[in-house]
Amino acid sequence: MKTYDIALIPGDGIGKDVTGAAWQVMQAAAKRGGFALDGTRFPWSCAYYLETGAMMPPDGIETLRKFDAIYLGAVGWSAEVPDSVSLHGLLLPIRKGFTQYANIRPHRLLPGVQGPLRSDGFDILCIRENTEGEYSGAGGRIHCGTANEVAIETAIFTRAGVERIIRFGFEQARARRKKLASVTKSNAQKHSMVFWDEVTREVAKDYADVEVSHYHIDAIAARMVLAPESLDVIVASNLFGDILTDIGAAIQGGLGYAASANINPDRSAPSMFEPVHGSAPDIAQLGVANPIAAIWSGAMMLEHLGEGHAAAEVMSAIESITARGIGTIAGKDRTETITQAVLAALS
Ligand code: IPM
Ligand code: MN
Repeated sequence: MKTYDIALIPGDGIGKDVTGAAWQVMQAAAKRGGFALDGTRFPWSCAYYLETGAMMPPDGIETLRKFDAIYLGAVGWSAEVPDSVSLHGLLLPIRKGFTQYANIRPHRLLPGVQGPLRSDGFDILCIRENTEGEYSGAGGRIHCGTANEVAIETAIFTRAGVERIIRFGFEQARARRKKLASVTKSNAQKHSMVFWDEVTREVAKDYADVEVSHYHIDAIAARMVLAPESLDVIVASNLFGDILTDIGAAIQGGLGYAASANINPDRSAPSMFEPVHGSAPDIAQLGVANPIAAIWSGAMMLEHLGEGHAAAEVMSAIESITARGIGTIAGKDRTETITQAVLAALS
């Protein structure tokens, strides 16, 4: 039987709750699809940091490299470990180390889910650059603690990095409604963002069938609220994409529905799948986290593995339960109730 080796990193907080839920659903989908998912669990998390002094072992990246995919719950427990330490010790090194340069985040309303907007006809795919830009980590601080202290955080945009994410965005647009919105702030940031616009125009020549629009980040933020149905594929830098995908999550009903895939498109290293919501320490282990974003992320993993039929079955199971009002109102249904409903709908 075809078997995929999956690295499971439940991480912190509700990451553990939702990984368990998503894994049960993925297993059920695999059984139906006639393939196997062999999971290896890694305890890497803030608790692991408190025990060992590191978020993952020094050879963590090498350990993960041999897997077919990585499934991650959430990272962060800021009361115990500063976020800047936990994220730069686990999540961000995986994204960068495996050149998972395309962070894909779908935003649409599931049937039965009421967003905060009246509009219900939107279907947006956010493509976020995931390895450089504002998250490059280049910079430093000097004269610390003095009145002369200086902090520098340099955003790095390389031609290779910008070109590949824009090209990826065009490919996605071509497979959908053929509309690409490229996001910058080139009226204010005259180096990197003007460069991004130029590269977009160059790459656009290869995609004459795709309609390109250039938006500034502030304007597209407003558009996502006022006219989300006018958008198809959005391509944005790391930080801009981070912010826009929280708006995307909000308009699709909340972070409980926002799924994501960190993709290495040339498959030279494993890709990673994770819900957007984070560890939510306030509701951790209470059994009330909505697992739908995590299950949806699992479906994206199955799709990436080449099990498109199983992925589609998981998505229709999710849609059939939300259409019946299960998992559609924050706090109403427990994690277990929603998970069991998805499992029942699958079979
Ligand atoms: C996300 C998260 C992360 C990010 C944080 C936790 C570093 O907000 O995946 O959207 O900014 O990428
Ligand atoms: Mn975010």
